Amino acid sequence: MTATITRRRVHKISDKKDFDKYDLYRRSVQSPDTDVCFLRKVYRDLKKKDPRIFREDFCGTFALSCEWVRLSPKFQAIGVDLDPEPLEYGRSHNLSKLSEKQQQRIQLFEGNVLAEKLASADISVAMNFSYFIFQNRKIMKEYFLNVLRSVKKDGIFVIDIFGGSLCHDENEEKASHRKFTYYWQQENFDPVTNRAKFHIHYRLHGQAKKERVFSYDWRMWTIPELREILEEVGFKRTHVYWEGTTRKGEGDGVFTRTEKGEACQAWIAYIVAEK
Ligand SMILES: C[S@@+](CC[C@H](N)C(=O)[O-])C[C@H]1O[C@@H](n2cnc3c(N)ncnc32)[C@H](O)[C@@H]1O
Repeated sequence: MTATITRRRVHKISDKKDFDKYDLYRRSVQSPDTDVCFLRKVYRDLKKKDPRIFREDFCGTFALSCEWVRLSPKFQAIGVDLDPEPLEYGRSHNLSKLSEKQQQRIQLFEGNVLAEKLASADISVAMNFSYFIFQNRKIMKEYFLNVLRSVKKDGIFVIDIFGGSLCHDENEEKASHRKFTYYWQQENFDPVTNRAKFHIHYRLHGQAKKERVFSYDWRMWTIPELREILEEVGFKRTHVYWEGTTRKGEGDGVFTRTEKGEACQAWIAYIVAEK
C-alpha cells in the first residue's frame, strides 16, 4: 500500500489573490470535517456512548474544534496553542463563521501543552504530527502524562503518526490544487537521532514559488515506541487504526483497528490511548 502523507480534501476555492498561508494550509493538509467524524466514531466504538468535550492540543487555527462544535449542540471544544498568531487567525477566519451559540462552546488557551494544567476532556487530540516536536522520550513522557491527568475517567487520547521508507530519505512530493501547488519537502533524515526537517512550500498559479512557508524539525517516532510510552505513563490500553488500500494500492481514507500493519513507502495511522 502506498498511502500519501497528505490528507487532501477538495474545498471551495475563494477568489482571494492574497497569499494566505493558513488558508493554503487548511486546503492542502487538513480535513477537519471528516477528522471529527472519525474521532467521534472511535470514541463511540470504544466507549459505547457519545463524547462531549474535545480538546485540541497544538490547535493552531483550531479548525477541528470549530468542526467539533458543529456536530452537536451539546459538544464543547478547547484549543491550546502557544503561538498567538494562528489563534488570532482562527478567531477571525474560523470562529467568526460559527453561530453565536457554537462560538460560546469553544474555549481557547494560549499556552504550552507541557506547562499548562490542561483542561479536562473526553477526547484529547494532537493532530498533524505536531507532537513530533518533542525530540526525546523524557519530554514525550511528560506530555503524555500531562494529557493522561487531564483526560476524563472514560476518556481517550488520539494522535496521528506517519512513516514508511520514504521518510528515511530526502524527497519532495507535490500536489496540484485548482489555484495553487502544494509541496511537501523532506530536507534530511538522521538515522542516529531519527530527526528530520520538513518544509511546506506553495506556488499560487502564475506566481513565484514561496519556499518554507511552514518548517518542522521533528523526530520520526515509531508506533511501538509511542504505544510503550503511553502505556508506561498509565494509559490502560492503546490501539492502532491503520488505513485500508484501494485497488490501485493507495490509501483509501478508511482507518480500522488492527495489530498488524503493512510495509509501504508512506503511511498514516492513528494511535488511540484509553485512560
Ligand atoms: C503543525 S501546527 C498544527 C496545527 C493543527 N493542529 C493541525 O492539525 O494542522 C503546530 C502548532 O503547534 C504549536 N505548538 C508547538 N509547540 C507547542 C507547545 N509546546 N504547546 C502548545 N502549542 C505548541 C505551534 O504554535 C503550531 O501552531
